[in-house]
Amino acid sequence: MARELPMTAEQLHPSTNGSGQMLPAPAYTDPEVLAWENDHVFAGGWVCIGRAGSFVKAGDRRAYQIGGEGVLVVMGTDGQLRGFFNSCRHRGHELLPAGGEASGSLIRCPYHAWVFTPDGDLRGVPPTHQGDVTDLTEHSLVPVSLELWNGFVMVNMSGDAPPLDEYLVGLDDILDHFGIGELRLAETHSYTIEANWKLIVENYHECFHCPTVHPELSLVSDTEAGVSVFGEGLFFGGTNDFRDGVETMSLDGTSGGVPIADLPQKYRHTTLYLQVGPNLLVSLHPDYVMIHRLIALAPDRTFIECHWLFPAEAFEKPDFDPAYAVDFWDITNRQDWTACESVQRGVASRGYRPGPLSSYHEVGVRLFTQWLAEAYATGVVSTRAHDLLSEEQLASLAFPVDT
Ligand code: FES
Ligand SMILES: [Fe+2]
Repeated sequence: MARELPMTAEQLHPSTNGSGQMLPAPAYTDPEVLAWENDHVFAGGWVCIGRAGSFVKAGDRRAYQIGGEGVLVVMGTDGQLRGFFNSCRHRGHELLPAGGEASGSLIRCPYHAWVFTPDGDLRGVPPTHQGDVTDLTEHSLVPVSLELWNGFVMVNMSGDAPPLDEYLVGLDDILDHFGIGELRLAETHSYTIEANWKLIVENYHECFHCPTVHPELSLVSDTEAGVSVFGEGLFFGGTNDFRDGVETMSLDGTSGGVPIADLPQKYRHTTLYLQVGPNLLVSLHPDYVMIHRLIALAPDRTFIECHWLFPAEAFEKPDFDPAYAVDFWDITNRQDWTACESVQRGVASRGYRPGPLSSYHEVGVRLFTQWLAEAYATGVVSTRAHDLLSEEQLASLAFPVDT
């Protein structure tokens, strides 16, 4: 048991023994738990910081807060993206405020004006300081592990996570069908929600709430029809099939885009919802892909960036308007955020008692809470969704990863 966490093994047991239960209240409310998650789950895992396409030329850079510390992502003079800890080698000032972006061929620290190249090398210090810094090469920015994956920028702050292709093993077998790396960004929405990040993920993993919370979605999606999907690597989720005659998830069930080319039949009449690593939610539709990227700001506050991606051919249609997907999901997102904020207030109540999860509707929630409860209890964050399943569950997978 991780002694530093304010949860006992006894409290966590119902979530770890497969019976399926919400997590104890501190998991959703206590800053110590978020600090632990920042260290073990976010800094210790591969976290998505956004799309690579937003970096165009050498010196383009953005700063992000991940796992409680800052990373600066910069396009180098060789066109490669690199990550650095956002901490000046002089006295630690951030080179760019978290959430900020800048461009230009030199990175000047705002505190005492040390200057770095986009490749992270120290280029110079103010003249009055030069005698104190005899060897510039000793003061390069400290690198952070960064990989490009399907057009996304992924970073691992600790440097200890398994290689990304091992961490997400099996996922490309699905995503390759959707050509995500080639899809184009049409729109981005940002939301700040007064709820713990896990409540948002738990909400994402089930459509048990859809008939009550989402009247628009329930018109086009058969919330009873779908299968669970468990990755070999750290991804899992499930599908929800469309109702008869529905082309995609939109307010009237029609698509204003174009079908993703050569999509296998089993993806053409359903949405596949996947949690990828700790902070990325990938919703795969037959004609577009929606991405939610979560950043835990506080135990009761989460920043979410939502992207809508479409095939390049959709943009060639003279009347193409991504609103058919964007508006539908913006309405649905806001209904979800309202529900999650209500649950946050409920789990913070002294009357909160973790309740049992449905073994039919809430399979993904059970797996997610089990994944974290086991991590809290053992101090080890599993990077294989399959390891969370019993032999029996593994054998009964209805929608195994493509082979
Ligand atoms: S902290 Fe950056 S120049 Fe002093
Ligand atoms: Fe929902």
